[in-house]
Amino acid sequence: MSYSWWRVGTIYQIYPRSFQDSNGDGVGDLDGVRGRLDYLVWLGVDAIWISPIYPSPMHDFGYDVADYRDVDPIFGSLESFDRLVGAAHARQIKVILDFVPNHTSIMHPWFIDSRRSRSSEKRDWYIWRDAAADGGPPNNWLSNFGGSAWAWDEATGQYYHHAFLAEQPDLNWRNPDVRAAMHDVLRFWSRRGVDGFRVDVVSDVIKDAAFRDNPLNPAWTPGEPEIRRLSPTYSTDRPEAHDVVAGFRRVIEEFDNRVLIGEIYLPIERLVAYYGENLLGLHLPFNFHLLSVAWTAPDVAALIETYESALPEGGWPNWVLSNHDRPRAAARVGQEQARVAAMLLLTLRGTPTLYYGDELGVGHVEIPPDRIQDPCGKRDPGLGRDPSRTPMQWDASPFAGFSTHAPWLPLTPDYETRNVEVMRHDATSILSLVRSLLHYRRRSAALKEGEWSLLSQDSSILAYKRGWGEYSIIVVLNFSGLPRIWSNPAGGEPRIAISTHGDRRAEAVGTTVPLRANEGLMMETARASNDVTPNKPTDPASS
Ligand code: GLC
Repeated sequence: MSYSWWRVGTIYQIYPRSFQDSNGDGVGDLDGVRGRLDYLVWLGVDAIWISPIYPSPMHDFGYDVADYRDVDPIFGSLESFDRLVGAAHARQIKVILDFVPNHTSIMHPWFIDSRRSRSSEKRDWYIWRDAAADGGPPNNWLSNFGGSAWAWDEATGQYYHHAFLAEQPDLNWRNPDVRAAMHDVLRFWSRRGVDGFRVDVVSDVIKDAAFRDNPLNPAWTPGEPEIRRLSPTYSTDRPEAHDVVAGFRRVIEEFDNRVLIGEIYLPIERLVAYYGENLLGLHLPFNFHLLSVAWTAPDVAALIETYESALPEGGWPNWVLSNHDRPRAAARVGQEQARVAAMLLLTLRGTPTLYYGDELGVGHVEIPPDRIQDPCGKRDPGLGRDPSRTPMQWDASPFAGFSTHAPWLPLTPDYETRNVEVMRHDATSILSLVRSLLHYRRRSAALKEGEWSLLSQDSSILAYKRGWGEYSIIVVLNFSGLPRIWSNPAGGEPRIAISTHGDRRAEAVGTTVPLRANEGLMMETARASNDVTPNKPTDPASS
């Protein structure tokens, strides 16, 4: 079987405002990304997914698109985009764009026309409804960012729907002209050479045709975000969303070798439905369950088993450890366990998505109240996403090599040591660990394609096998802060290929394997380390 690039490769998410600034304004841009491609080659990733770069008033930092076919001047231009794609492809790095179909910006010409009058040509491109009998919103639906999902438009005397900010009106995906126009957007970028799309909130694009009220969520408790007060039964994950996805897929199939990924926060059984009938939906419905799982060996083991067994026949798994909307891995599980988490992400079956900065173990960054940027954080600092969007840290210079100007968000207080330049020279750093894992994975058929099976699990140890029979890799993760001994039920005499602590390389272990506190070990079975197998490790330091 031949595996597509998006199955065997690792995706690296870039939040473009925060990766590299090339023009000294304190905000990252596309020429900046291009200048750092050699780092990504060194690191060992195969594709970059770039969060939105389109012209935008930046109410939601680019997730409010005012023109789907251009680049915001803050990030560059179509020319700088083309240069980036050319330079990435020259290095065998694929480029995935963010595609935001659920909503536009209020500044998009379609919406400007739509709100001009009830008889505008584009009126039906958005979701307009009359007020309820009492003059209030048409139903009880809530915005993900707080308050009602309906905004009153005084001039035309109707409400429009917005699942996020009022500045992000939702498109009406029941209108065939909207579908056709957005399909052409996919073609526009595909012709420009992009290798695929990450589709924003794809499960939410279609709303209930009758706009029924959402039921109360019995599990909600006061103090939890308001959006959880209702179950979004009628405003999200409607059956017709699958038709929209199938439409995207048909467009993607007009081009060779592209990938369709979707942002979906749903329970596993509903998530996997997005692979689509006959697998003609998303190639990779993003699996975000590691973002919320309780960080214990039994919980993580149960998650992997549930997900693996829920996948449809032929559906390719994927795992995400962090993204720009949720607390970073190191903020959730702590510095020591962040290494265990990295080993887990890069040794599970399926496509991993690595979030920029996680390779440095960047954790929660405290944002002073007067520097809050995220609209969610302005509403409720506890919900702010800025702490996960801080600039990449390249070196110990005043602005961490990110910019020559004070960056738009703060750096970590320890950036003078937590940066690429310092950590790349330290064989025991998390950066060296991530790099070793990425390079090993690239060369290991067992890790890229092999089966996953549970070897053993107790309250603190999770052990699993990847690969086939004697050609296998064994991964043992100690989720606890205490040393542990692991008894290897598989027998044999495996040798350690990678420890999360950066040492013990090539150590032969017997049937009982000692692990230090918070240690993860990736081991080769005797045959897997043999020169003739596809699993021969290469020394990342020498590559
Ligand atoms: C997605 C994005 C998030 C954005 C929202 C609205 O969830 O990941 O950053 O705010 O969509 O577009």
